[in-house]
Amino acid sequence: MSMLGLLATTTSPMKLGEATSGGTFWMPESASTIAPEVDFVFDFINWINYIFFALVVLVLVWFAIRYKLKPGSRESFTPDAPTHNTPLELTWTTMPLLLVGLIFWLGMDGYLRLTEVPDDAYPVKVTGQKWSWIFEHPEFGVIEGGELTVPLNRPVRMIMSSKDVLHSVFIPAFRVKQDVVPGRYTSLWFEATRPGQYRLYCSEYCGMDHSKMLAVVNVLPEDEFQDAMGQLAREYEDIPDSDLPAYAMNRLYSRCASCHSRDGTSGTGPSFVGLWERTKNGTTVFTDGTTLKDHMGPGGEFEVPENYLRDSILNPQHYIVQNYMGAMPTFKGQLKERQVDALVLMIKNMDRLVDDQGNVIENPDLDGADISTGSAN
Ligand code: CUA
Repeated sequence: MSMLGLLATTTSPMKLGEATSGGTFWMPESASTIAPEVDFVFDFINWINYIFFALVVLVLVWFAIRYKLKPGSRESFTPDAPTHNTPLELTWTTMPLLLVGLIFWLGMDGYLRLTEVPDDAYPVKVTGQKWSWIFEHPEFGVIEGGELTVPLNRPVRMIMSSKDVLHSVFIPAFRVKQDVVPGRYTSLWFEATRPGQYRLYCSEYCGMDHSKMLAVVNVLPEDEFQDAMGQLAREYEDIPDSDLPAYAMNRLYSRCASCHSRDGTSGTGPSFVGLWERTKNGTTVFTDGTTLKDHMGPGGEFEVPENYLRDSILNPQHYIVQNYMGAMPTFKGQLKERQVDALVLMIKNMDRLVDDQGNVIENPDLDGADISTGSAN
């Protein structure tokens, strides 16, 4: 199978949907060791609520009918009506106390289990930044964006930090959630019990495109997991130059997607549609009033236009395009050299990779595509 064929079969995060079905009315699909326990506590508390709600309403209705004030009955009030009932008061004090104690015990037990990471847990380093997720596998030297591949039936420990503001990792199918905080590490662990793809959300409001800060957790059986990691570790080297634009579209664009559209609409950042035209012709205007043309050409800062794209990925605060707020974080250290090349090529060949509505063309005809990265310096 060619690399392109392989890329086409890799499930893109956009196509997800079936994976999150199969839950109950209250709960999403459950796919981790801790999930049944969490669900049990939830159901337990829920049923206590149902029972006591019914009980209180029934007694309320019954009393309303039974003790309705009838004409002339006011006179029948007797001063020796009961004011205390010790057994009754003891019952309604101790019963809730016992129930609350039981709920606390169940909750604490589950919470401790959630915080005690098994020693042999597989480590994944997670970085949140506005508005995407980056997942690093230190054991394989692999970096993923927008998709996290994990082994089945093995504890996975996520060590997480943020580059900018408060984010939060939430994987409903695993029933786990943990804040991701700048300037410190937090951690989270789970053990997936069913292969498949599950949604990962950012569940802490982190700015404009918070709702687009999504990823997919891809749970694979051990042997497939090892294969996938091996492939990911090699993927940059193995791809021929001509396949790099399609590779970037399928594997890297998810990190840009929340800000840079591929259908021409303007988002937090400029659309990728027409970006190459604007860059090549130097028509982009910056917030300092200069145009890209002023910085290009021999002797200029960007000898070839491709270098401006490169600079924008690695040093995005350098020049900020007019009418945008310059919200982009740097991708220095997160992308290998060949991946930066791939992104530049993707931007140059945008019109071949997506149609007018911004849908990815499955098997783009890249013959004659512009595949020079223009690294003239
Ligand atoms: Cu990151 Cu919300």
